[in-house]
Amino acid sequence: MTEILELHSRNRSLLISTADAIPEIIYWGAKLAQSNSVHDLNQEPVSQASLDQRSPLSLSVEAGRGLFCRPGIAGQRQGKDWSPVFALTNTETLDQGVVLHCEDPIAQLAVSYTLILEADTDLLRMQVALTNLAGADYELERCDISLPLPSDCAELESFGGRWCQEFKPHRQRLDHGSINLTGRYGRTSQQKQPFYFIGRPGFTETQGRVYGFQLAWSGDHAMNFELLDNGRRLVQLGEHLASGELVLKKNQTYQGPEVLAGYSDNGTNTISQSYHQQIRQKIVQWPEPRPRPVILNTWEGIYFDHDPDYILKMIDRAAELGVERFVLDDGWFKGRNDEHSSLGDWYLDTRKYPQGLTPLIGRVTERGMEFGIWLEPEMVNPDSDLYRAHPDWVLGLNGYDQPMGRYQYVLDLQRAEVSDYLFERIDELLGNNDIRYVKWDMNRELVQPGHDGYPANHGQTAALYRLLARIRAAHPRVEIESCSSGGGRIDLGILPYVQRYWTSDCNDALERVMIQSHFMRFLPPELMGAHMGAPISHTTGRQHSLSFRALVALFGHFGLELDPVKLSAAEVKDIQYFVALHKAHRDLLHSGRFSLLTNPGDAHQQAWQVVGDKREQALVVFIQKTMTNYSVPPLFPLTGLDPQRDYRVSVLHGADPKALGPMKKLPAWLSEETRLNGDWLMKAGLQLPVMQPESAFLVKLEAI
Ligand code: GLA
Repeated sequence: MTEILELHSRNRSLLISTADAIPEIIYWGAKLAQSNSVHDLNQEPVSQASLDQRSPLSLSVEAGRGLFCRPGIAGQRQGKDWSPVFALTNTETLDQGVVLHCEDPIAQLAVSYTLILEADTDLLRMQVALTNLAGADYELERCDISLPLPSDCAELESFGGRWCQEFKPHRQRLDHGSINLTGRYGRTSQQKQPFYFIGRPGFTETQGRVYGFQLAWSGDHAMNFELLDNGRRLVQLGEHLASGELVLKKNQTYQGPEVLAGYSDNGTNTISQSYHQQIRQKIVQWPEPRPRPVILNTWEGIYFDHDPDYILKMIDRAAELGVERFVLDDGWFKGRNDEHSSLGDWYLDTRKYPQGLTPLIGRVTERGMEFGIWLEPEMVNPDSDLYRAHPDWVLGLNGYDQPMGRYQYVLDLQRAEVSDYLFERIDELLGNNDIRYVKWDMNRELVQPGHDGYPANHGQTAALYRLLARIRAAHPRVEIESCSSGGGRIDLGILPYVQRYWTSDCNDALERVMIQSHFMRFLPPELMGAHMGAPISHTTGRQHSLSFRALVALFGHFGLELDPVKLSAAEVKDIQYFVALHKAHRDLLHSGRFSLLTNPGDAHQQAWQVVGDKREQALVVFIQKTMTNYSVPPLFPLTGLDPQRDYRVSVLHGADPKALGPMKKLPAWLSEETRLNGDWLMKAGLQLPVMQPESAFLVKLEAI
């Protein structure tokens, strides 16, 4: 009789078989009605002309068991012990989880898998740890965790683009072989982001069987989606290690990054909502629970042109607009006039700021705001005092000429003196100034990251986490944003240390619709830095109306990325309106259930919907990306409302003429009080007006 370990959450079940003396996930999906521990579930036949026994698909694929695909654990000890085969030694029970300890006495390796099925959020947390039990070193090349997928899961949706195009979605079908996506950029990267959906082909936000995965790691990473010749499918996730990167001494353990996986039989929104709930309840650590303060960031307003008298004007105007946090971006430290110099010299530029930061911070706090500052601690420009004093602090390999990125090198954080220097500089800055927020930037990829000649991506990432933890411990009230040329470091690994991501350097509202839509499929809106920029986008040259720019930013951690002094009186009034609108609704936006919706009759129309706790209120922003297909837009079905109740439907910012296309008659709800039933709104939908391309409407639904 097969022993079956079962984990159940509110709506999901996970079954692990230990029949072949190794743990094997045999089911993960919708909750099973009954316990299966008494049944013999292992009925797989052995086919002709194959190995004489079935090959169990364990939690790290073992080639030595006769699986002809990428091994989950790869490594060697002086060329030997390269094909371990593990057996279960004991099982520990956790609240909602298990730890499965396995050992290979020949290769002298132990592996343990921690699996937790979260009771409330239905998410599966998985982590692998490998220990070297022998006296001789074990060189670890890979340590992935794998999950089997049902045979209909043949479509992968992955994400990644480039600078200013984060979260670009890609769909690929897998009918043969494997799809391997490896991020080798030294940071999470914009190109290959560790977020995936795999499901029945054609799955959407609201339909289809689908699994979601995200990896909690900010360094190199890999995902392998593979179809075996026996028709079984699996996904493997883990860190990508360079050759020789991890050498385990006797009794040393490598702990792989956590994988957070979700399942849904009705499209990806269910998984997104679980991710949001899990992150809100268990991962993000706020210094204090409070609404996300509206930000003004100086970067696109003044770039490197720092004049304290002018910045005082910006501060006054920001306060008038309703801003709550004023962030001084790049350009404030010694000699930093452009991107060619000074990174590393984290001392105030007293030529620009002869009276220090005090007058600025004083004005900010006087105006009821808090002060934030930009830093890029991990970097150094060759043209800096730091580099001139310590050229050897650079992360790299001696003897090679490494390419610079944005005219800068990376510092080797594994050197204690480097991390201590950075801690001392940041500690001094935060200790002597009333600074409540750090925009922690990181603006280049790593090339040949070497520490003492050894590969150092893993060590550098771990050292970054340690430095962040040290700063958080010394300055627990300071919030930190993870920025990396925009969204180059968006992942769950860094989230225990930060409270926000800078989503993208692109503030073009149309591009942001794509970027933010997919961001919010994995991470909650309150972590998503979303700023409205100037009328003409600095990174694309497109021009957008103020309401479109504001509405696209409204659901996130809202802010402004412009020079407030240059605004016209009319713009000031409009921005005040949208800032107030955001403040009035941010509690709902940042706690409710988020859904991404696409109009099934017109893919150019998208909506973000947030429904409050008891389904009493909802906010929906309808976005017309490009020209609508038809002269009258198809009804737009909503989701997650109470089918038994009527809702009052109202547009929150008037019938914005800039958003309206040519029409002889408008839908009545745009001008008069209208009630619609929740069931109707979900099964039939809301009739939108003809909308102009690149425009949006914000609609409120209130249960009556
Ligand atoms: C990066 C960031 C920007 C800005 C600049 C400053 O590009 O993503 O938001 O802070 O650096 O140099």
